[in-house]
Amino acid sequence: MHIVHVTAEMAPIAKVGGLGDVVTGLGRACLHRGHRVEVMLPFYECLQKEQINDLTLSDTYSSYHNGDWVSTRAYRGHVTGIPVILIEPANHFFKGQCVYGGSYNELEAYLFFSRACLELMQVTATQPDIIHVHEWQTSALSLLYWDMYHNLSVKKPRLILTIHNMEHYGECRQEQLNICGLDGSVYNTIEKALDDRTIGHNPERLSLLKGGIVYSNAVTTVSPTYVKETLCSGWLSNTLMQYREKYVGILNGIDTVLWDPATDVFLPAHFQAHETEGKRICKQYVQRGLGLDSNLMTMGKKITNKGSNSPLVVCITRLVAQKGLHLIRYAINRVAELGGKFILLGTAPDGRVQEEFEYLSNQCKESNNVRLLLTYSEELSHMLYAAADIVLVPSMYEPCGLAQMIGMRYGAVPIVRRTGGLADTVFDVDHDQSHANQPNGFVFEGIDEGSLNGALERAFQYYNEKPQLWMELISKLMQIDNSWEKSAGEYIDLYNSVRVR
Ligand code: ADP
Ligand code: GLC
Repeated sequence: MHIVHVTAEMAPIAKVGGLGDVVTGLGRACLHRGHRVEVMLPFYECLQKEQINDLTLSDTYSSYHNGDWVSTRAYRGHVTGIPVILIEPANHFFKGQCVYGGSYNELEAYLFFSRACLELMQVTATQPDIIHVHEWQTSALSLLYWDMYHNLSVKKPRLILTIHNMEHYGECRQEQLNICGLDGSVYNTIEKALDDRTIGHNPERLSLLKGGIVYSNAVTTVSPTYVKETLCSGWLSNTLMQYREKYVGILNGIDTVLWDPATDVFLPAHFQAHETEGKRICKQYVQRGLGLDSNLMTMGKKITNKGSNSPLVVCITRLVAQKGLHLIRYAINRVAELGGKFILLGTAPDGRVQEEFEYLSNQCKESNNVRLLLTYSEELSHMLYAAADIVLVPSMYEPCGLAQMIGMRYGAVPIVRRTGGLADTVFDVDHDQSHANQPNGFVFEGIDEGSLNGALERAFQYYNEKPQLWMELISKLMQIDNSWEKSAGEYIDLYNSVRVR
């Protein structure tokens, strides 16, 4: 089968969060199963080009934009073995130091990109079996495809939309659709089909994601629990209810090639389930490097590392409301009070939140127990997962969440709030004993500090009082199969169920 992903992110060359991880992990898993996979991505100025192999200019063509034709280049190459196609318009789109937040209009740029991907397929006479679009940024491709090709009797390719986060619904005005050549009448069809008084009904407030839901052959989201949650509440619940029969939850996996503590190039020492000495070294390395090892004492020639004996809690996250900012703030102090060490790695897209955390970071600069690293660093993230005893994910909502799965693969016990994909992947050591899935972490329900505190205290008690059981737990965590193996199979089944044969 020929599968083309059209996406705004891809790890590791253009990653902001889990979307990038998913495209690479799922792409690789399908490639390994013998399918032809390509990933189409904007040629961001900030792409990590050194990680792209055999980069060559393959096509120069014109793509429609706002009543005009923009000269566009397509480059081909490989990223960690996965074929990529990079789309570069000869205008200011996708310029800047970050994937998002450049000084161009993002809505316009992604509408252009969605159309440019289809145009390239046209000029190269490429007809994949499946075009897999992700999030609002590329949802317009489903609308465009329907608009440009709906007169054809055989409709190939078929379109799959994956929604990674329902909160980002791609709001746009009807007239803005003209930018990519859509006249907005596609939404009239939607309006006729739906009795929906929320977003997507009003020409001033259309939702690209909603258009994608209506005009894709199947819609997935990234965990079964998030399916239930999104059918019950949220902007698009009515639409999803209407299209319930084509809406499924497929749990994300993690890319076990990029995330492997036995071979990870970023780690000072390697380890695996039955040989965890390397993990101890990673913890020591990180704590020393960050000046958190104040308890290091020399007794004669022997070094007693008391610092390594207190649990190290890490939290690696975008600093946005979804992730439970108030609980992260609370954990910073509470972990230290409980005798642990806390490291945060995160950035806030919102300047005020970033400033606030910078203030907190300055306050604990001299602390022996806390470090707040307000930056984005792939390398640091690998080291922190490897060093951590506990990975904290206190999200208010979480469509899937990868941090808890990566943490487990690196032997860090997850503490999570029971929501979305966290509820599908973490089962409480004390309360989920009867669960068909093996208990593997600490889970709390409430959104208040007391709820998180209960889970923290239980985890610390387990760590301090049952060291042997803790070691057994981390060895068990590292053997849990959260790879793409099973979920890629579910995607292939889905692709097969819609494709034209
Ligand atoms: P989301 O996609 O909502 O951000 P996920 O848990 O699905 O949440 O994925 C987050 C991904 O981004 C993980 O791979 C995590 O390690 C990574 N990540 C988040 N913040 C940072 C950061 N500051 N530096 C490096 N990696 C980060
Ligand atoms: C989104 C969600 C996250 C999910 C990721 C990958 O960013 O917030 O929960 O894991 O996409 O699907």
